[in-house]
Order: sequence, then C-alpha cells, then structure tokens
Amino acid sequence: MPLLSEDLRQAIEDYTRRYATRQAALLPALHLIQERFRCVPREAIEELADLLDLHPAQVHDTLSFYGFFRDAGNPLGRFRVWVCRSLPCMLRGGEEILDDLCHYLNIQPGQTTADGAITLEFAECLGACELAPCLLVNDECHGPLTQESARQLVAQLRRAGVQHGV
Ligand code: FES
Repeated sequence: MPLLSEDLRQAIEDYTRRYATRQAALLPALHLIQERFRCVPREAIEELADLLDLHPAQVHDTLSFYGFFRDAGNPLGRFRVWVCRSLPCMLRGGEEILDDLCHYLNIQPGQTTADGAITLEFAECLGACELAPCLLVNDECHGPLTQESARQLVAQLRRAGVQHGV
C-alpha cells in the first residue's frame, strides 16, 4: 500500500500543472509531504520520485540540500518554533529568549520535546523586524516578546500539541 494518499498525490499533481515541467514541483511537493508526516519518510522519497519522473537520488539531493526538511529519524513536533537571532532581534533580547526556551523545554535548537509537541529552531531574519524580538510558529509571527511572554506562548502551544496528539 502506498504511503502517499490519494488526496496528497492529487495536491502534488495540482502543483505540477503550475510549472513547465513536473520536476519543478519537487520543492512544494516536499513541503506538502513534510506537513502531512512531520518529516519526509524514505518511502515518500521513492513514491515522489516516481510521481515526478525523477530518480530517488535526485529527490534526496534536493531534500538534503535544505536544512528545512526532516527525515523519519528526526521528525518535527506538532509546532515548529523558530526564534529569530539576527541583529535587530538579537539587540532586543532574541538570543536570551532562545537560551531561555532551550532551558525551559530542556532541548537544544533543532531538537523536539519528548512529548513531540514542540520543535525549537533558531532562525535568521524572519522579515518582521518591527516585531523584534520575535518568533515564528508554523506560519505565524509573534512579537515583540519578552522571555516571559515567549515562555507563556510556548507553554500554551505545548499544551495544545499534547492535547491534540502528535
Ligand atoms: S531580525 Fe528578527 S525579524 Fe528581522
């Protein structure tokens, strides 16, 4: 039985129609797969290669080029929290917020809490310097934050992540 469901395959097909070649839909397809599985499993690489007329090695090359994607051995948590550490945010306490969240969650950037609720990451400028210091949760930017408000936000997300299962 294939790993990629019919609706996911259809969503990928929809992307292929936007580009001159099927292969050009690779990146958006990888995003869709990671969104669904919280990682890009090995079977998905093979099925996606088949779908886009690529060799699995080509899919893997693209996948490993970008730090954004995760393999099955290191899946994302329910919420991916990116803390900005570029200059404007750093000057306003972004690094301290990142350190504090590492301490609070007992993980390092790039890791996921044991309950699978939160993956913590550092980010370069999120393009929202007016909110400095800020962080991004999935697609939503939050700021300006203090260590306390960042902790509150992450605690709220963690509860939601645990409640809804991962
Ligand atoms: S430096 Fe943090 S959003 Fe630009």
